[in-house]
Amino acid sequence: MLPVRLDRADPRPLGSQLADQVRQLVLDGALARDDRMPASRRLAADLGVSRSVVEQAFDQLLAEGWLEARQGSGTWVAGGTSGRAAAPRRRRTPVVERPLVMLDAGTPWLDPRHQAVWRRAWREVSVATPPRGYDDPRGLPELRALLAERLGRTRGLAVDAERVRVTGGTGAGLRHLLAVLPRADVAVEDPGYRAAVATVGESGREVRDLPALAPVTDLAGCAAAYVTPAHQHPLGRVMPAGDRLTLLATARRADALVVEDDYDSEFRYDVAPVPALASLDRDRVAYLGTASKAILPSLRLGWSVVPDRLLDAYDAHRSLTHDAPPWAVQRALVTLLRDGYVDAVVRSARRVYAERAPRVVDALSPYAELAGPVAGMYSTWLLPHARAVRVRAAAEAAGFRVNLLRDYCRSARLSGLVVGFGGPTDDELERALDVLVGALGRL
Ligand SMILES: Cc1ncc(COP(=O)(O)O)c(C=O)c1O
Repeated sequence: MLPVRLDRADPRPLGSQLADQVRQLVLDGALARDDRMPASRRLAADLGVSRSVVEQAFDQLLAEGWLEARQGSGTWVAGGTSGRAAAPRRRRTPVVERPLVMLDAGTPWLDPRHQAVWRRAWREVSVATPPRGYDDPRGLPELRALLAERLGRTRGLAVDAERVRVTGGTGAGLRHLLAVLPRADVAVEDPGYRAAVATVGESGREVRDLPALAPVTDLAGCAAAYVTPAHQHPLGRVMPAGDRLTLLATARRADALVVEDDYDSEFRYDVAPVPALASLDRDRVAYLGTASKAILPSLRLGWSVVPDRLLDAYDAHRSLTHDAPPWAVQRALVTLLRDGYVDAVVRSARRVYAERAPRVVDALSPYAELAGPVAGMYSTWLLPHARAVRVRAAAEAAGFRVNLLRDYCRSARLSGLVVGFGGPTDDELERALDVLVGALGRL
C-alpha cells in the first residue's frame, strides 16, 4: 500500500492531497521510475475515497509528467530516479564552501571606518525626500557638482557640473556611449579590460584588437577606441605623453571617439597621478570614472564626462531608457564626498597599497618578471602559461584566487599571473604570498 494519508479536515481537495503526496514520494525516491502504481479502484478502496479522487490525482500527475499510462498495463512512475531508495531520501545539508580570498585586480582595500561613515550617509538618505517621479536622468545635481569639483582637483579635468553624468559604473557609462555612437567597430586594448570587450560585443559591434603597449596609429573605420591611459589594464604602464598625442591625432583623423577608462588612477605611490587624457581634448575623449576602486564595487556608481557634441543624444537615450543609478545610492555618495570621506579613504588606501606593493614585488620577483610598473591594487607577472596555470591551481587549493594574464588577451601572446593585493587582509596576503612563492619555487 502507498504510504499516503488523506486528511478530510484539510481544506485542500482530497485529489490534490493525493497528488502532492505521490509527487513527494517520487522526489524522495520512495517511488522510482518504472514502478507500477496501484490500480485506481484498489487505491481508492485502500484510502477509503471514491475512485474519482484517485483519477483526479493521477490525471494531474500524468499531465505533469510524473506518471505515464501504458497501453493495457496501467499507470507507471515516469519521473524521478531509477532504482528505489531504501528509505525516503534525506535532504542533504548544503555544503558551505569557504569563499576564495580574492587576489584579483578589482577588489579594493576596505577602510575600517566604513561602517560609521555609511551609517551617517544612510541616516541622511532616510530623512531626505526622494523625487516623486523619475529622477534627473543626468544624476543628482548636488552629486554632479561635487564630482565636477573633485575631477578638477584630482584629475586635472576642468569641467562644470552641467557636463558630468552619474552612471551605474564604468560598464554602464560605456553602454550609454555605445548607444549613441555609429554602428562601427570599437578598438579595445589587447590585453585589456574584459568587461569592456564583452560590453562592446553585446552591442553587436566587432572588437578590434589594439596592441596595448604600441602607439595607436590606425583607427580607420572605428567608432571608438577604449583605453586605460593612466594605468594600462592589466600590464600596468602609464601611456607616455607622445603616445597620448598620437592616439588623439589618430582618433581625430578617423573621427573616432577615445573612451578613457580612468579606473584606479588615484592610486599611484611613486609619482603624482597623471592627469586625465580627457584634459588634453574634451571634444575627442569621453571620460569614465568609477566608485568601484576608491569606495566599493558593490555601490555600482560611476561618472562620465561626455563630449558636448554627443551630450544631447546621450541624455535622450538615458531619459528614454530610465537607465540611471538609484537615487538613494547617489544621495549616499553625496554625503561621502561632501564630508571629505572619499579623499580620506583614497589617502589611506594609497598608504596601504604603497606598503603592500613592495611586499608582493619582493616575494615574487625572484621567480617571475614584472609586466610593467606596479600601481593601483594589483601587479602583473610574466610567466610561461603552463606554469601560471599550475601556480593558480596551487593558490586555489589553498583558498586564494589569482587571475591568468592569458584571460585578458585576445591576439596578444602574453602569459603569466595578475596578482591583486587590495582585497586580502595583511595576514591573508602574507599566507597567499607564501603559497605563491612555494608553488613557484617547486616549478
Ligand atoms: C579596467 C577597469 N575598469 C573599470 C573597472 C570598474 O568597473 P565598474 O565601474 O563597472 O565597477 C574595473 C574593475 O575591476 C577595471 O578593472
